[in-house]
Amino acid sequence: MRSSLYTKVIKPILFKFDPEFVHNLFTSTGRLMGGYSIARKILSRSMRYDSKFLEQEIAGISFKNPVGLAAGFDYNGNLTQILESVGFGFESVGTVTYSYYEGNKKPRLVRLPKSQSILVNKGFKSDGIKNVLNRNMPKWSNSFNVGVSIGATNSKECSTPLAQIDDIVRSFEYISKHEILKKLSYLELNISCPNVLGSGSLATPEYLKMVLRKIRMIGINKPLFVKFQLEIEWEKAKELVKIMVDHNVDAIILSNLLKNREAESIKQEDKKFVKDLKGNFSGKPTYELSNQLIENVYKEFGSKIKIIGLGGIFSAQDAYEKIKRGASLVQLITGMIYEGPQLIGEINRGLEELARKDGFNNIQEAVGSKVK
Ligand SMILES: Cc1cc2nc3c(=O)[nH]c(=O)nc-3n(C[C@H](O)[C@H](O)[C@H](O)COP(=O)(O)O)c2cc1C
Repeated sequence: MRSSLYTKVIKPILFKFDPEFVHNLFTSTGRLMGGYSIARKILSRSMRYDSKFLEQEIAGISFKNPVGLAAGFDYNGNLTQILESVGFGFESVGTVTYSYYEGNKKPRLVRLPKSQSILVNKGFKSDGIKNVLNRNMPKWSNSFNVGVSIGATNSKECSTPLAQIDDIVRSFEYISKHEILKKLSYLELNISCPNVLGSGSLATPEYLKMVLRKIRMIGINKPLFVKFQLEIEWEKAKELVKIMVDHNVDAIILSNLLKNREAESIKQEDKKFVKDLKGNFSGKPTYELSNQLIENVYKEFGSKIKIIGLGGIFSAQDAYEKIKRGASLVQLITGMIYEGPQLIGEINRGLEELARKDGFNNIQEAVGSKVK
């Protein structure tokens, strides 16, 4: 698919409909197409970009390219068969919670095209870990790198730190005994969703240590990634990342949504428009802050923990910037919604071009090149 076909023809039609309806349409179409090898082949031929230049081994996992789908798009694990054909190198399913949650009150997604953002207020809408893993399990791809993002059930009962930890640990224990574990490349702990009750309460040294220790005690033999918040003072962030390093967390994912409604990166009209709406911002408003955090974490901990960078990636140039600041891998959601699914192949192709132009022999050489 050409980018102009999506942005000039398809997007104007899709954007006339409710965002959640369009999202569900995409996931059900993707799920259906993923079941047919002919559909996978056609997509792969028209969208995917492969090159040895982009291959890397991170945390013992082989990645065919550095571009992944972030947690929040395929939250019930419907797309594991099709995303490889679309061009992705990996995906985080979820965030999945132990118990079912229908999601926060609508509207849960609001498009903000002027700011190239989405106001997100899903609050861990999830079918619950048992349903997600068992319903789609036989269909989960064996060849594609899939991780599961796990967070605490969004309920009153789980709104205290200790209850959140128990709930998260229950999910990790469940997955540790499930045969799907064989198919998974990594597990992701989400301690950073701003749209849930008790949000952010595990981002303290005491509770982060506790949850990581309990997860480690389960003894799951898979890489562990942690999804981190965007807005945090560096001194506090440093203490928390050090705890992750001490608990052998393999990668930190930087970062989640933006909470600050006064941020300059949100256009004035959008600030007014969302005044009475709940939610937090994805896309471009997160871009600079996430880049800064990537750079800080890379400078301080670059040799000890891998970084997955996300927030506002709309082009190869955006992805390359995060890589040059220290991210080994990148993820996205909002860029794909605004620019179309062909963006993934375009980013991969563009990354190779940009990194070759800078004289690198493979993408790994570019990681952190701006801050070294
Ligand atoms: C519709 C939507 C739902 C999201 N849900 C989750 C989620 O369940 N878990 C999570 O860790 N992040 C979630 N996020 C945050 C994204 O994973 C990502 O951190 C953020 O949107 C910045 O990346 P982007 O600018 O490429 O979208 C969600 C984002 C969007 C747009």
